[in-house]
Amino acid sequence: MNLPNQSPEYVAEVPSNIALIKYWGKQNAELQWPANDSLSMTLSHARSITRVQINNEPCDLLVIDGRQADQNSPQFKKPLQFLQKIRTILEEEIDTSRHLSITSHNTFPQSSGIASSASGIGALTLGAVAAWTGSPSFSVLSSRGFSQERLASLARLGSGSSCRSFGGGFVLWKAGKSPEDQETISLFSREHWDLQDMILIVSREPKLISSSHGHDRAWTSPLFKNRLSEVPHRLQRLQDSIVYRDFALFGAIIEEDALEMHEVMKTSVPSLNYLLPITREILQWILHKRASSHFPAYFTLDAGPNIHLICEKASLDRLVNEVKKENWPIEIIVDEIGSGPALSLSALKHQK
Ligand code: PMV
Repeated sequence: MNLPNQSPEYVAEVPSNIALIKYWGKQNAELQWPANDSLSMTLSHARSITRVQINNEPCDLLVIDGRQADQNSPQFKKPLQFLQKIRTILEEEIDTSRHLSITSHNTFPQSSGIASSASGIGALTLGAVAAWTGSPSFSVLSSRGFSQERLASLARLGSGSSCRSFGGGFVLWKAGKSPEDQETISLFSREHWDLQDMILIVSREPKLISSSHGHDRAWTSPLFKNRLSEVPHRLQRLQDSIVYRDFALFGAIIEEDALEMHEVMKTSVPSLNYLLPITREILQWILHKRASSHFPAYFTLDAGPNIHLICEKASLDRLVNEVKKENWPIEIIVDEIGSGPALSLSALKHQK
């Protein structure tokens, strides 16, 4: 008879984030050192929820979205390899020899253009370190040497952009002067500006070239060095626009940066194209709408064909209706700026 696992279950919730100034290209892939600083908005509803318990099994057990891990499937390979990596990094500091039972799910559909690796790797990091150190809260984790900043730098080793999910509101990931000098800073809390992210899902097909492979190609683009010299000034202007809640300036900058990243992709060798004809059609429509009427929304794009349309809360309903009227074969998910990760202890039914 299998006895229920009586060890405490830690529940880690980490949101996804959408980059406003993109991280594209690395100075060092092994150490996950980005070529430039990036700035993102943390999302609220799009989260990975990961439950972790110490188990007495001879190996880690991982279930994602109800599916048991198969070591050979790419969906599981990345998280399992990453878990092994942080186990080795931390083994002299804490007892990471104990195996874990991990159950994870996303609150958003897969392949929706929402970065599941940022939230998934983030929640895995938080849940695993909480279980290994027996920490039911961020304050206990911090007293054991795991500040949110430190957790972010561990998570970064599995997915670069996941480090930005450890803060709420608007988060800056600074590349610094060396890989060890990197830091993530929450610049403004979610209360500062009530922005919404209307995600237009034009395709759910998984991308053919992963962003890891895409990052490697960035340096082959003749536009990349120029991009790197532009980013610091653009980042400063974006921060100013956030300080003053200057939405028109904010929007112009995020569109410029997203389009530039896709130009770098296109001019890389071999060339990379993540956009579909319908993506381009909708982008044209947005530009046309803005030129001919008051259309208070600006787009950004990740390494995929889906569009993130950012707007202020007061305009959301009107904009959703305008998009729906076009009858495109798309789905719309509405998210908003969020306050960052959460950690708790689960009230297990069999626990007294
Ligand atoms: O964290 P990665 O390796 O999945 O790269 C993310 C790259 C972009 O999503 C395109 C941009 C970003 O800064 O999130």
